[in-house]
Amino acid sequence: MPKPGIAIVGTGMIGAVHRRAALLAGADIRGVAASSPQRARDVAQAWGVPRAYRDIEEVVADPQVQVVHVCTPNHLHRPMAQAALEAGKHVVCEKPLATTLEDARALAALAAANALVATVPFVYRYHPVVREARARIAHGELGPLHLIHGSYLQDWLLDPASNNWRVDPALGGASRVFADIGSHWCDLVEWVSGERFTEVSAAFDTVIAERSTDTGQSFTTAAAGGAMQAVTSEDVAAAMFRTGAGTLASLTVSQVSAGRHNRL
Ligand SMILES: NC(=O)c1ccc[n+]([C@@H]2O[C@H](COP(=O)([O-])OP(=O)(O)OC[C@H]3O[C@@H](n4cnc5c(N)ncnc54)[C@H](O)[C@@H]3O)[C@@H](O)[C@H]2O)c1
Repeated sequence: MPKPGIAIVGTGMIGAVHRRAALLAGADIRGVAASSPQRARDVAQAWGVPRAYRDIEEVVADPQVQVVHVCTPNHLHRPMAQAALEAGKHVVCEKPLATTLEDARALAALAAANALVATVPFVYRYHPVVREARARIAHGELGPLHLIHGSYLQDWLLDPASNNWRVDPALGGASRVFADIGSHWCDLVEWVSGERFTEVSAAFDTVIAERSTDTGQSFTTAAAGGAMQAVTSEDVAAAMFRTGAGTLASLTVSQVSAGRHNRL
């Protein structure tokens, strides 16, 4: 069987992870698109892939590409995934699928109407311990679930000197911490428990009121100093859910919890 041809759009932190996963899965990486044509050429050379695409239009016009990996900041997920689906390409789109419910529903409807594979890579599903927990619950080894509770805590945005595209609602979406990492917890719990959330009530808070105007790389803490700007997206959230089966669940999620680098 020929290797599927893929293109990776967005070559930052997670784009490099997709590259590794695609190579391990036996895919043929046809090319990359990045924030500029020059950056795409640099990455194509560094990764040893044949094409540096100018933009998403050039990606979806390539007949050698069957699968498009969308690894850009969140506000670009909808237009890029849509362009790929409309061109008849399969799509692996990073979470959160979109920055509004309307956009996510539009993508899901488009994928369903086209018999294409369209998926969001919630990677924690594939950890062996997670698969084991899911299997034990599915086989009834734990008995009925009475209560689900947990947290996803990070600390990389504790320092007001730290900033990132995720903090800006125009790029990351109106929700930051819940969409960025709360989405992982929700998917993980639904996957492991086999139950879907049907009700939610949540409160958000922005505890670092101002951040540096310098936007650094993902998951890094910048040097202090320089101009500051107001923050409107949330640093912390507390949410309560009920599943369709009636189980109560609660989540604490934060990107400002000291000492918790990436604790799920
Ligand atoms: N599944 C996971 O565990 C996981 C982990 C981290 C990030 N993510 C998701 O992956 C996405 C990217 O996050 P990241 O941490 O890699 O961010 P990042 O900032 O490291 O990388 C994003 C890249 O997209 C590029 N980009 C910006 N505009 C572009 C455009 N028009 N065309 C092509 N590329 C463009 C940027 O230059 C940057 O290199 C986000 O949606 C994030 O939520 C998922």
